[in-house]
Amino acid sequence: MKTLDQDQLHFVLESAILAPSADNQHRFRFEITDDGLRIRYTEAELPPEGGYKRVLALLSLGAVAENLAIAASRFGIGTQTVLLPDPAQPDLIMQIRLQPGQAAVDPLWEAIPLRHTNRQVRFHGPSMTAAERGELEAAAHIYPTSQLHWLDQPARRRQALRLMRRAETERFHNRLLHAELFSAIRFDVGWRTSCPEGLPPGALGVEPLLRPFFSQLRHWPVMHLANLVGAHYILGWRACALPCRLAPNLGLLAVKNTDTVTILAAGRAFQRLWLRATQQGQVLQPMPASALYALPGACEEGITADLRQILATGWQTILPGEIPLMLFRMGHAQVPAVTPGRRALADYWRAAS
Ligand SMILES: Cc1cc2nc3c(=O)[nH]c(=O)nc-3n(C[C@H](O)[C@H](O)[C@H](O)COP(=O)(O)O)c2cc1C
Repeated sequence: MKTLDQDQLHFVLESAILAPSADNQHRFRFEITDDGLRIRYTEAELPPEGGYKRVLALLSLGAVAENLAIAASRFGIGTQTVLLPDPAQPDLIMQIRLQPGQAAVDPLWEAIPLRHTNRQVRFHGPSMTAAERGELEAAAHIYPTSQLHWLDQPARRRQALRLMRRAETERFHNRLLHAELFSAIRFDVGWRTSCPEGLPPGALGVEPLLRPFFSQLRHWPVMHLANLVGAHYILGWRACALPCRLAPNLGLLAVKNTDTVTILAAGRAFQRLWLRATQQGQVLQPMPASALYALPGACEEGITADLRQILATGWQTILPGEIPLMLFRMGHAQVPAVTPGRRALADYWRAAS
């Protein structure tokens, strides 16, 4: 590739892999082409339409694409992205053409290495100012198919929290969701170190006294037994209801339809918002479960019909005519001692075929 020299290419790709992903696992590889690059999925194709797994994958890929575009802008290079360019190659997610001299430097690039997921139980204030709120809205609005809402008015927050808590509780109660959640946690690295893929336990914000108990819950028979005395309710409260109640702000990104282009754009919008919040000195934690388990295809992925119905009806009452995709709590907190790492850039590389 002639557009970027080796150092610039390294910077752009490193920035791309610093993007968040649902369970800190980037399921893609880069391929370099003459005029840009391709992003190829590591599996044969994206998860099926209508389900939450596809949405998680697309939101994550959207964040990668946005980081890449922001990083390229640092060198004045624009990006033209074509999503799923070849129906015969469903694993080919994006074709990105780099366009020299076509972009103004996007100052968000400086926030890319500083952004992180913060799971401390208490985010303190102050709540965002009107100016900060305007900046976040402007950051996300570059992708106008996503609408940003704030659930800060007490009655609205209460309604949303009921749904969020319900969904997060289910992650400890439903065997499939439990396996999904705990299989991403790297108990093998201990509580003090990070890991290049998956979630290091030290990044989860679990109080030191509760850690031995939490580790045991990775075994389904233990979780199942603990649930007989209501452990899932307590965990849903601790993991979601309490931290969200304490957070200065609760946000929601919604869309009007769930086609692939719109969801990827929502991932890009959310990443811009997150980077802008980082520049404002704020931290956030994504908590999309209650939105995603309400999607029509969620039942085929293990969500019970009852729960899906409750969530879908609840969100329609709060947000008529819109489809929530990403919920998050936001505020101020210290950067945790342990944050998830990334694999070496070379691991995300694939020779072009
Ligand atoms: C689509 C998506 C969904 C996520 N869902 C959750 C979640 O439910 N709970 C949570 O604590 N973090 C969630 N995260 C944050 C990821 O776990 C986090 O981005 C990843 O572990 C990498 O860590 P980092 O953000 O600190 O770089 C989500 C991130 C993305 C992009």
